[in-house]
Amino acid sequence: MAGEQLARVTLRPPRIEPPARPLSRLAFVARFVRNPLAVVPRQAYEEDYATLPGAPIVWVTGPEMIRAVLLDERAKFEKRAQIRLLSPLLGKGILTSEGADWKWQRQASAPLFRPQELAHFVPAFVAAARRLAAGWRDGEVRPIERDMTQATFDVIAATLLPSADAAMPGAIERSTGVFQRAGAWGQLYAVADAPRWLPQPGLRAMAGAVRELRGAVHAILAERRAAGAPGEDLLGRLLRARDPETGQAMNDAQLVDNLLTFYLAGHETTAKALTWTLYLLARAPAWAARLEEEIARVAGDGELDASHVERLVLTQQVIKESMRLYPPVPLMTRQAVAEARLGGHLIRPGTSVVLPIYAIHRHARRWEDPDAFDPERFAPAREALMPRYQYLPFGAGPRICIGMAFAMLEATAILATLLRRARFAPTAHVPAPVARVTLIPRGGMPLRVSLRP
Ligand code: HEM
Repeated sequence: MAGEQLARVTLRPPRIEPPARPLSRLAFVARFVRNPLAVVPRQAYEEDYATLPGAPIVWVTGPEMIRAVLLDERAKFEKRAQIRLLSPLLGKGILTSEGADWKWQRQASAPLFRPQELAHFVPAFVAAARRLAAGWRDGEVRPIERDMTQATFDVIAATLLPSADAAMPGAIERSTGVFQRAGAWGQLYAVADAPRWLPQPGLRAMAGAVRELRGAVHAILAERRAAGAPGEDLLGRLLRARDPETGQAMNDAQLVDNLLTFYLAGHETTAKALTWTLYLLARAPAWAARLEEEIARVAGDGELDASHVERLVLTQQVIKESMRLYPPVPLMTRQAVAEARLGGHLIRPGTSVVLPIYAIHRHARRWEDPDAFDPERFAPAREALMPRYQYLPFGAGPRICIGMAFAMLEATAILATLLRRARFAPTAHVPAPVARVTLIPRGGMPLRVSLRP
């Protein structure tokens, strides 16, 4: 029955229209600042490769070429634009460093993200979702984007970086807001490799936010040092880590860089995945009903635990399809540092190679009815046949998201907990997707919640 119903109603939720004709320089800048995804040409959705005549930018959407950039020829493609954009905030932490500097930081953090470690976090995921839903009133319209940020922030604070500092959540929320708003100019300057003396709108506000945030994280570090024992969480591991080359421990600046990286990379993204997923379920009630049924079948009335989460197959399919249509990280960028060839195209050093995950996930030749919401694409047997570089919400290659398994477990546990408690309905607001550092819904994500008996 559910299957028949789904076949009849196809949901094609809001999408970004590519420019109708080639853009002048001025039109490019104006559109880019509003939404960096709005300049991605139609060609990128239909072919493997697109250029902006006269500018050192290319968009790459063909799986073989993506593989070359992220894996086979990665030495020729560095993360300079991303580092330029994020290093004022994140210094030279794991996300914003390269080479040997990156490698040991990655090795130091990796053990915390092993599957057997992650299972212990499930109660914290469930508790964060329950706390959130406990504050909801039946029939009210909730700012779901903010609610999800709250829940995923609580998770990071409880699992990876426990602290007694009550000022931290406020500081993070303020500064991420400032960063997202000033982010479009930062992205443009970074991708276009603009000279550093060029005045950049929003830079002053950003500097203030960075000071506030780094100050709060320094306080957590001081608190832990004063306690005497490093602890078993992420901070404890980072405090004990030693550079294999030099035997040195991380200094305070490096520790703050990494703590901030995990705070920010670890909650904004998952919050956006959940926000868009709830929106899609609000628009596709037949799918919401299937998930309710699955959750009841797998977990009954009892407490949700790690073994249940693994068996919530349809719930995970929905999250994956949501991240296909609305990838939380909508664009990745690399800079060519040596001459390279991508599918016969010559790439000169200095070229910005943009991997528009959003367009890769809606490519006309690789996805059937690419704008349609269809979680059946991720049914296990079909997913197993999917080419690796066609779907990459977490990136690929050695720099693939270290938090991938954490995020999937967290998103599934939070979603299941929320669906046990409430149903969601859309409002008149149409949330257009806009690329900032993450993919945000313009105007937020108001959804009406009705509490389940
Ligand atoms: C749905 C949620 C998430 C999405 C979609 C996501 C996406 C990504 C992507 C695309 C990258 C690669 C960037 C690049 O190569 O340019 C990345 C890297 C990273 N992510 Fe995530 N992420 C998510 C959740 C998390 C979580 C929960 C954590 C930590 C708890 C985390 C920590 C990181 C870190 C530290 C890196 C840098 C890894 C490195 O450079 O070695 N992410 N993420």
